[in-house]
This record gives sequence, structure tokens and C-alpha cells, in this order.
Amino acid sequence: QDDQFKKVISHAKEYGYVFQSSEIYDGLSAVYDYGQNGVELKKNIRDYWWKSMVQMHDNIVGLDAAIFMHPTTWKASGHVDAFSDPLIDNKDSKKRYRADVLVEDYCLKIETKIEKEVKKAQKRFGDAFNKEEFVSTNPRVLGYQEKIDTILSRLGKSLEKEDLADVKLLIEELEIGCPLSGSKNWTDVKQFNLMFGTKLGASAESAMDLYLRPETAQGIFVNFLNVQKTGRMKIPFGIAQTGKAFRNEIVARQFIFRMREFEQMEMQFFIKPGTQGEWYKHWKEARMKWHLSLGMGEDNYRFHDHEKLAHYADAAADIEFKFPFGFKELEGIHSRTDFDLKAHEEHSGKKLQYFDHEDNASYTPYVLETSIGLDRMFLAVFSNSLVEEELENNTTRTVLKLPAVLAPIKAAVFPLVKKDGLPEVAKQIIDDLKYDFNVFYDEKDAVGKRYRRQDANGTPFCITVDHDTLEDKMVTIRHRDTMEQKRVLITDLAAIIDKEVNF
Ligand code: GAP
Repeated sequence: QDDQFKKVISHAKEYGYVFQSSEIYDGLSAVYDYGQNGVELKKNIRDYWWKSMVQMHDNIVGLDAAIFMHPTTWKASGHVDAFSDPLIDNKDSKKRYRADVLVEDYCLKIETKIEKEVKKAQKRFGDAFNKEEFVSTNPRVLGYQEKIDTILSRLGKSLEKEDLADVKLLIEELEIGCPLSGSKNWTDVKQFNLMFGTKLGASAESAMDLYLRPETAQGIFVNFLNVQKTGRMKIPFGIAQTGKAFRNEIVARQFIFRMREFEQMEMQFFIKPGTQGEWYKHWKEARMKWHLSLGMGEDNYRFHDHEKLAHYADAAADIEFKFPFGFKELEGIHSRTDFDLKAHEEHSGKKLQYFDHEDNASYTPYVLETSIGLDRMFLAVFSNSLVEEELENNTTRTVLKLPAVLAPIKAAVFPLVKKDGLPEVAKQIIDDLKYDFNVFYDEKDAVGKRYRRQDANGTPFCITVDHDTLEDKMVTIRHRDTMEQKRVLITDLAAIIDKEVNF
């Protein structure tokens, strides 16, 4: 798993998808830049989301609210008081850790130890080995298992504020963390707010403390009436938005899975109070369908229904995806009640109500939210698509089997040789196709090598112009996944590509 993940990261760099930010200065942790192919893949994912959420729904409209918002927004939303992670410092190493992640890591370490014991025993006993019996009787494994059980029973899956004292105790008892530390060398667990602060205004006296938004959702809530009134929207209706969000994540790891600057794609669906149950069910299903439509394998997704709920929610579930490091949250679906609109009414003194003509009454709508990280979706698509294939002639090829609708380059066009007028024909094909598709011209190296480069880059089609083309106006089109080659008319190319890549 680790190896596969390393491959994903290095492939993303090698093919111009993702670079470490400010790499020449040794990088900035948990901040990344998207290269020439990454920016296209990211845009295509965003467009795929936007089209299905906004264009395909006549009751959902878009919005692009500013990153800077009035600071009271974050007081109302609860982010000033409650948007924090539990942190613990190690006095010896002077390093800061996220307490819940330390515990999680510790569980993982123990699980690896159990796996090692199992493998050892398997080797020793061969065919006679019974795994179930071994793990339920071996004293060493049982000891490890007991540690995990203690942790899980004490802390559950997620950590809430009241669990913090427990974390401290556990860390002391179990000596979790860096091996340098003695068990008594940890500070108390403290809450650390994840919002980035900045200042608006030039002079020290007039400057106003601002936050970089940690989610795009609040821009939608504060514009609820603007959009509803000017768009004459009738409940139920939604407002969708994509844009940057910022969180001062303490544990910044797993590449673009958890970043300090990232992009969200969120939709707030405004509904009549009392209907949240049916809409929650509706959006859970609709969002799962969207994921499955990309054809990345049903087994790679699962729901995780939350037992512990955030302060604003009366129901919440994650859509989890099987990343190279296991199933992790990809998208959240939250039934947010009227928490946000009511809080903004209270803090702004302005009514944020909807007049329902059918009921002849006003009410504060309830909200159903779908929220997905664009970068996290990028990682899901990219890591799932990268495969090493064994070929019949005992060689391997690296293929990035991106869903064709998302691929950065839809077709690459090659002249077989760099002479005899073939480049001119290939360039003419590029000129004809480029209005509708992102296409790429390549004349370097042998055609086989050019195919492999495009396979590894995720390009669904390669088109080769040869000497016969000059006579019959036909070219060879090669499919990335099947490697099948067909002879087709140049005039049919656009329709063939379109069929596969459009949505
Ligand atoms: N408005 C609700 C909200 O922001 P969230 O669960 O905190 O909910 C929603 O975030 C989604 O945003 C997550 O499911 C994840 O895909 C993405 N996300 C959150 N934090 C992230 C980070 N540090 N880096 C990348 N993506 C992140």
C-alpha cells in the first residue's frame, strides 16, 4: 500500500499533475501546486460536478462568494469557538502532535505488529495454520488486541472535547508517540483553532481581524436571501459553489488528501422544516450515484453514518473512498437544520426567512448540505486510475486509466515520421479538433514510445497519420485501455472522440 501511494505521488509529479508548492525553497508543507495536466484534470472534475449539480437541476443555481467574509460570520457559524483540533506538545522533542492522530497511529502500529505475528506463524505452521484460532489464542496477539480495544472503548472513533483528558491519560499509559519521550513529558491536550487569521486595512488602529474561510458554505448562507429573491427561487432549491478554503491543519500528511489550502465543491439545499429526513436520503443516494457514474468500481465506495454529530447537524454521513491508505472520507452529506440561518439572523439582526405562498407563512428554511473536497476527489480519481499492466510479451506498461470525461488530454496526434508531409496532416487534424477537445501533438521518438507516454498520461486516444493517410484520408486510432487499433476516416474522428469523452 505504501509503495502504491509512493508511486502515485511520484507519477503525479513526473507527468505534470501535482508539484510541491515552492519546491525550489524545499517546499511548504501540505501546500501543493497543480501542473499543466493537473490543472486540466481538476477543472474537468469541477465541471463534471457543476454540470450535474447546477446545469442538470433547474432548482439549483451557482454562486461565487468572496474568500474574505465579515468576521462575525465565523462567530455565528461556530468556527471561532468550536473549529479546533486537540493538540499535545512533547516537552523533550518540542514537537507538536494532534492527539487523536497519535492515538490513531498507535492503533495502526499495533495492527501491523499483529499482522507480523500472523505472517510468522503462517510460515511456521504452513498448511496447518488456522488464522482465526491463532489470533484468538496467541498471548502476544491477544495482548496487542487488548490495547486496541482499550483505546477504542475509551475514545470511540472520533474525539470530542470531553475525550481530551482521556487522550492524555492514554498517551501516558501507553507511551504513544516518539520513542525519545518519557511518558511524563507531554503537556495537557489543548484545543487549537484551525482558521488562518489575517488583517484588512492599512493602519494598525483601523485594521480589522479577518479569517480566510475554512469552508465555502457560509458564503452561501449569508447570500441566501439575495439569491432567493433575485432568482425568484421557490423552496426546495439549492445554491452551489466551488472555491478555495483554508485550514491550518496540524497533521499535514497524505499528499493532497489533507491540505492547508484546498478547494471545496459545496451545495446547500434549502428545504421546508420537517422534510429533512427525505431530502437527506435523496442527497445521499444522488451523490453516491454521481460517484458511481465515473465507473471507478462500486467496491471502492461506502457510507459511514455518523453517530457523534457536529453542533449544527441532526444527521450526517460520509461517502468514503478506498484510497491507497485505506477507506477515508471523500464527501460529507449533512442535515444542518436551521442552525446556520438562525445563527446569522441572531448575529446580524436581519431576518433570513422564506415566505411560503402555499402555506401563507414565513419560516427559516432547513438545509441539506453536500460537501466534497476537489483535491481529495482528484486524489481518488488519480490513485484509482494508476495501474501497472502485465502485457502478453512479458513487459509491463504504466497506464493512467482516468475516466475519459476527466482526462486532461482527450487525444494525441502523431505523424508516423517527421517528413513526407505527414506532420502537416497531423497538425491539420489538431487544428480541426482543438475547438472541441484538448488535443496534443507529438512527433518525438518511435510511435510505440509515444503511445506509452500517452498511456501513462491518461490520454484516452492516440491518432497516427501514416503514408496511406495521404491517399485514403484515414488514420489509425488507438484506444488507451484496450490498445485496440482501428482505421477510421479523419472526418469521423470528432464523433468517435466525442462519444467517449462528453457528458
Ligand atoms: N461545509 C461542510 C464542511 O466543510 P468538512 O467535512 O469539514 O465539511 C468537507 O469538509 C469536505 O472537504 C471533506 O469531505 C473533504 O473532502 C474536504 N476537506 C476538508 N478538509 C480538507 C483538507 N484539509 N484538505 C483537503 N480536503 C479537505
